[in-house]
Amino acid sequence: MPAAVLPRWPLYWLVLLVANQSQGQTPVTYGDLAPILHSRCVLCHAGPQPPLDLALDSLEHLLSGSRRGPIVKPGDAEGSELIQRLKGSSLPRMPMTGPPYLGDEQIELFERWINDGLQPGPTISPATTPARPAAGEPVNYSHVEPLFTLRCAKCHSASGLLGSAPEGYILASYAEVIRSDERARVVPGAPEASELVRRIRGQARPRMPHDGPPFFDDEDIALIVAWVQQGARDAQGIPAVLPAGSKVRLHGTLEPNWTLDGLPLQLSPATRIDNAPQPGDYVQVRGRTQRDGTLSVERIRPR
Ligand code: HEC
Ligand code: HEC
Repeated sequence: MPAAVLPRWPLYWLVLLVANQSQGQTPVTYGDLAPILHSRCVLCHAGPQPPLDLALDSLEHLLSGSRRGPIVKPGDAEGSELIQRLKGSSLPRMPMTGPPYLGDEQIELFERWINDGLQPGPTISPATTPARPAAGEPVNYSHVEPLFTLRCAKCHSASGLLGSAPEGYILASYAEVIRSDERARVVPGAPEASELVRRIRGQARPRMPHDGPPFFDDEDIALIVAWVQQGARDAQGIPAVLPAGSKVRLHGTLEPNWTLDGLPLQLSPATRIDNAPQPGDYVQVRGRTQRDGTLSVERIRPR
């Protein structure tokens, strides 16, 4: 705006001033922070054994602090461990998946919240309870995502509890969960051919989550199985497409007639069979998905 125009619009400035002031007076509440906590912190700080016993999935948990004590001192943002971790003056800096860390504006929200006296604001429904699909609605990624972020991503992320993701498998985004470039752990439409399903059921060992028990209960497992069965849909409900010929590597118990826990195996003269596996043996199977949805086995061996 040209400077010459300004004096003609005193009302404009007055309105701006008032708007700014009322914005300054609105206290930051927990409700403003919850989305940040749920997208950036809860993947580790929740569940039965969060780091330092610090859970950040509800206001109550945040206020009860860690095994070392409270992480917020009302009115004293500077002196609060939470802010020191967000800024990196206390190490390791949080979120531990960073960089990227939180932006200056996000950190400022946390500071204002502490200095404003930890206002609770409206109650937030905890994201620990996954939104279940409505009757007749297909299962999509948004229904299973909370299970993965709460129970799996603490290890299966770029820099998780074990350093880099185990087997290079990241469980923090849809694209990573269904990716198949190296090998597919999720075969859309075929739960039995999906190592992810085998791991959460304990058919493939070690059973996941690796820090269980507790493992997923029957209801959570059924939800993930239905998600895979119905095509591993994204959050918008669009089924995934797995390129035919994608590699898979499965573990399970061999049954008569070359089935692996109920999954028929397609053997060919090219299949390499090592050490004569017998029904009842725990085996590793490597193969490729076929256009008709079956699995052609390249190699099978006892483990
Ligand atoms: C990848 C896992 C991971 C993520 C994501 C993560 N943390 Fe942590 N956090 C940890 C671990 C592990 C520790 C324990 C580190 C240590 O020994 O000090 C920790 C420690 C902390 C502590 C120190 C508690 C104390 O009493 O000393 C705070 C505060 C904290 N995290 C806050 C956060 C916040 C806020 C976020 C999100 C912005 C976040 N963390 C995201 C894993 C994570
Ligand atoms: C405490 C760390 C930890 C947690 C939590 C965890 N995992 Fe794992 N995961 C591992 C480790 C370690 C391996 C490699 C184990 C092996 O096969 O020897 C692994 C392997 C896997 C594999 C095999 C990958 C492949 O390429 O074959 C899958 C699938 C998997 N995890 C899924 C999950 C799922 C799903 C969850 C959550 C329900 C989960 N994991 C939670 C540590 C973890």
